[in-house]
Amino acid sequence: MNYITEIQRLKREKNAVVLAHCYQNIEIDEVADYIGDSLYLSQMAAKTDADIIIFAGVYFMAQTAKILNPSKKVILPNLKAGCAMADMINLQQLREFKKQNPNIPTVCYINSTAEVKSECDICCTSSNAIKIVESLKSPKVLFLPDKNLGRWVEKQLENVEVITYNGCCPIHDRFDPGAIRETKFQYPHALVLAHPECPEEFSSRADYVGSTSGIMNFVKNSNEKQFIVATEKGVLDRLKRDNPNKQFYYIHNVPSICQSMKLNTVLDIYYVLKNEAQEITVDKEIAQKALKCIERMLEVSK
Ligand code: 13P
Ligand code: SF4
Repeated sequence: MNYITEIQRLKREKNAVVLAHCYQNIEIDEVADYIGDSLYLSQMAAKTDADIIIFAGVYFMAQTAKILNPSKKVILPNLKAGCAMADMINLQQLREFKKQNPNIPTVCYINSTAEVKSECDICCTSSNAIKIVESLKSPKVLFLPDKNLGRWVEKQLENVEVITYNGCCPIHDRFDPGAIRETKFQYPHALVLAHPECPEEFSSRADYVGSTSGIMNFVKNSNEKQFIVATEKGVLDRLKRDNPNKQFYYIHNVPSICQSMKLNTVLDIYYVLKNEAQEITVDKEIAQKALKCIERMLEVSK
């Protein structure tokens, strides 16, 4: 059986859409209706009128889609696809963090659970984090779970103290300044592009720091021909496919695969779509509170 053709047929029959994050196995793009970063995919999840949303991404992304569009059936192809950073803070730890820093607005990265979102003021993604923190017009903000993104945002803004929780993405946190030097030595004319989840000591040496869509747009609009890319491998795969006249290099000796993102396969998509299995549900009360936090972000990002 050709699973790709079968998925396309089932999508039409069941009025379903497939959303795919750029860190997914690249062959999933063949069955995807929307491909992009966390912000773009949550915007698409909020406005789709399909009956079924298959979210090829990780758990918090499918959960966010369900919160934004609760009447739809939201399905995660592989329920084991979690996010190590989102798991670094639970409700109890959030409450403790807030207790230690009282009366300060709280910003949570979209890479967090629905429970955590339900007790934060506003959410952000890597592509709008600066704008979101600025929108609060507060001299201090609490930022969680990602310390690296929080510190990067603080560096971009004057007069805002960003108090960060001690979480990080284990994949992006591996990029270190020594590795940048080595790779630059081999490709001296290449520009270094980094995701803001990389540690500050790394991103401060990069030529451009930005979200998944930021990096992709930078390459598209640049006249340069060579790039060293410090983010998850899926982005490199898509950059190579979409820019055949440009060269892309990995940072030496830094494995950059998010194994969790790679758990979803075309076969899983076929199976869950056919059987309408692995639906995501969110507790109603939590979902209502988390929705306010996510909607505030979408309002600021318009
Ligand atoms: P983006 O917001 O750039 O899509 O990143 C999501 C993510 O999980 C990064 O590790
Ligand atoms: Fe989470 Fe990092 Fe994987 Fe993104 S790359 S989903 S932050 S573990």
